[in-house]
Amino acid sequence: MSSPEVVIIGAGAAGLMCALTAAARGRRVLVLDHANKAGKKILMSGGGRCNFTNMYTEPANFLSHNPHFCKSALARYTQWDFIELVCKHDVPYHEKKLGQLFCDRKASDILQLLLVECSEAGAEIRLDTAIEQIERTDTGYRLATSAGEFACQSLVIATGGLSIPTLGATGFGYQVARQFGHSVLPTRAGLVPFTVTDPQLKALCAELSGTAVEDCLVSCNGQSFKENILFTHRGLSGPAILQLSSYWQPGDTVHINLLPHIDLPEWLAEQQRERPNSELKTLLAELFTKKMAGLLAEQWFVSKPLKQYTPAELNAVAERLADWTLIPAGTEGYRTAEVTLGGVDTREVSSKTMESQKSPGLYFVGEVLDVTGHLGGFNFQWAWASGHAAGEVV
Ligand code: FDA
Repeated sequence: MSSPEVVIIGAGAAGLMCALTAAARGRRVLVLDHANKAGKKILMSGGGRCNFTNMYTEPANFLSHNPHFCKSALARYTQWDFIELVCKHDVPYHEKKLGQLFCDRKASDILQLLLVECSEAGAEIRLDTAIEQIERTDTGYRLATSAGEFACQSLVIATGGLSIPTLGATGFGYQVARQFGHSVLPTRAGLVPFTVTDPQLKALCAELSGTAVEDCLVSCNGQSFKENILFTHRGLSGPAILQLSSYWQPGDTVHINLLPHIDLPEWLAEQQRERPNSELKTLLAELFTKKMAGLLAEQWFVSKPLKQYTPAELNAVAERLADWTLIPAGTEGYRTAEVTLGGVDTREVSSKTMESQKSPGLYFVGEVLDVTGHLGGFNFQWAWASGHAAGEVV
């Protein structure tokens, strides 16, 4: 039986950060993953450019049943620490917007730097390895795997969430958590497009598939995001919708202000005064694409020359554009979700070290925990910070 001091299950963002940190301390580290490649999600992330952190990372950017949990790790390994690592490896990057940092070239630059750090520090990574059984022993843990048996003092679970099973996601981390007496909070897909089934709405979304509307204000359950929305064949997507999906529960109404930057009642009244013979459709085409203007004028309003609208009718137009309400039928689910909400209950894990309070020597890092970031590089920052926190002590 081979005996590394630390075994990390999961060669994703959090597992690799934990491995390079622990190995740099001189620990004998073995990373096991069932996939045929390390860091598959890193490679897919940010449209292939990996939004690896966010300059404005704060605890308020994370959802958790225990909102204070993320603070300690985020404060001890910050976005600036990761940026320093990126600079050390001469990886060119840029801010896209809102503090979101992306690789100039490709996401593999980030994976490569993690693998180089792991290799230089002496951490071993074994892929294509299925974990069959885990047992507690007097001195730590024993693992039976498809690559043989391993014993270790510290066992780190870095198996991520359920999003995108085709990239290797499994519920294995939750299973291990339960095995050692942990509670797992209900999981659901987050940062995920909405689907619609109402026939008229579905037809509108399908007709406008691919059309984006910039800087909409979307709200639900007291949370609002101002960003772009995107119509899809199945419903609605785009950054504003993805952000909101993490706060949405089935049955909830979503409010969309399509033009939050315009005082619509005032603007419409002004247009009516200045160009009374213009049709509403023509006016809307100055704000949206021609196709969208035509469809909205047809489906939501009766398009006629502005002079023919009563003040009450104009107000109704303003209200519809400023507060389009809809109830999504659901989300696209784990198939396309960027993250999994819920997971291992952080109230049973040390916020300083990520160690289990139920089973000494067992650690949970990354997305498997009930900590989920907003869209914009926050989920990787959580993976780096939590992986580092455990890597310092395992
Ligand atoms: P991660 O999922 O990265 O790694 C888990 C590892 O465990 C995988 O290698 C998997 O194969 C392995 N594993 C699972 N089950 C196992 C088992 N039973 N046995 C052995 N190994 C097992 N975030 C962000 O901040 N910026 C971005 O640009 C993006 N973009 C993005 C795009 C897409 C398409 C997705 C799906 C997600 C993102 N994200 C993101 C989210 C981000 O990728 C995610 O939060 C982190 O990868 C989580 O890191 P972890 O290491 O916790 O899990």
